[in-house]
Amino acid sequence: GEMKMKKFLALILTLAMALSVTACGGSDDTADDTADGEGSGTEETADYASMTDDELKAAITTVEGGKLTVATSPDFAPYEFYALDENKEPQLAGFDMDLAQYIADYLGLELEVVTVDFDGVISELQTKSVDLGMAGLSPDEKRMGIMDFSDLYYMGGQSLNVKDNAEKYNSFEAINKPDVSVGAQVGSIQMDLANENSPEADIVGLPKVTDIISELLTGKMDAAYIETDVAKSYQKNYPELTLVMDVPYDAEGSAIGVCKGNEALLAGVNEAIAAAKEDGSLEKFIADAGELAAGEKYEGLLDAEGNVQN
Ligand code: ARG
Repeated sequence: GEMKMKKFLALILTLAMALSVTACGGSDDTADDTADGEGSGTEETADYASMTDDELKAAITTVEGGKLTVATSPDFAPYEFYALDENKEPQLAGFDMDLAQYIADYLGLELEVVTVDFDGVISELQTKSVDLGMAGLSPDEKRMGIMDFSDLYYMGGQSLNVKDNAEKYNSFEAINKPDVSVGAQVGSIQMDLANENSPEADIVGLPKVTDIISELLTGKMDAAYIETDVAKSYQKNYPELTLVMDVPYDAEGSAIGVCKGNEALLAGVNEAIAAAKEDGSLEKFIADAGELAAGEKYEGLLDAEGNVQN
């Protein structure tokens, strides 16, 4: 009868709400709205800033209990990349990874890193499959609907890069031609910069920054928009790469993408970042990563098991 159907629907709704809440912890806006009107979730009124560390830790929920699940895209030295260890085995490295471990320790959680291409970092956050995205993420306005952003933990910039044609391709005008191929990583703000500054060029989107580097090196690509410190890092290994000019961008700096609506986690992450700045850890992570990235690192693709593909 109708009553049974109503009960069934109510059950479905309850389940859906429970699921949307466990997805990344925190309050889900739609669930709140249907349940008890606008902005009335308890999470919204909790004052995380004035909690003790233990209270805050207890209030934090994650996609998998006891774990901090972090998505990254390790094609981005010195932020995140594969460095070869003494056995020539690729190991995840970079200051984002050290900071991820620091945050997990700070919050008393076990770190679990998920590696995907950069556009995957964004979709993992969007589907609330991970707690954090740490991938040199720019806190770009158009991402704010799908993730929350931590405080900035690093300041970088954007640039246009070429291989040995620095005199020819030295301005937006010079590269803004259909016969000039201009690269950018899929899903990145560099892709926006390419579209805004060189719309007439042959814009090539590639899933990995390391693919872009190798296409520049082999001459398949003429120019590429790359995060400045990443370009400089790869330049240490491949001096034939040249940074031709800085590119203006208005959401400069890196932030951590936090699963939307998880305000307790966001507060915890911001406290951990502040602590890492305060105690000198962050500075050390950045220095270590810079050194590691100048040494032997793995550039190519890894298969699902993390084995080197030749
Ligand atoms: N900062 C740029 C963005 O947020 C690029 C980040 C790319 N990160 C990476 N690990 N490949 O769009």
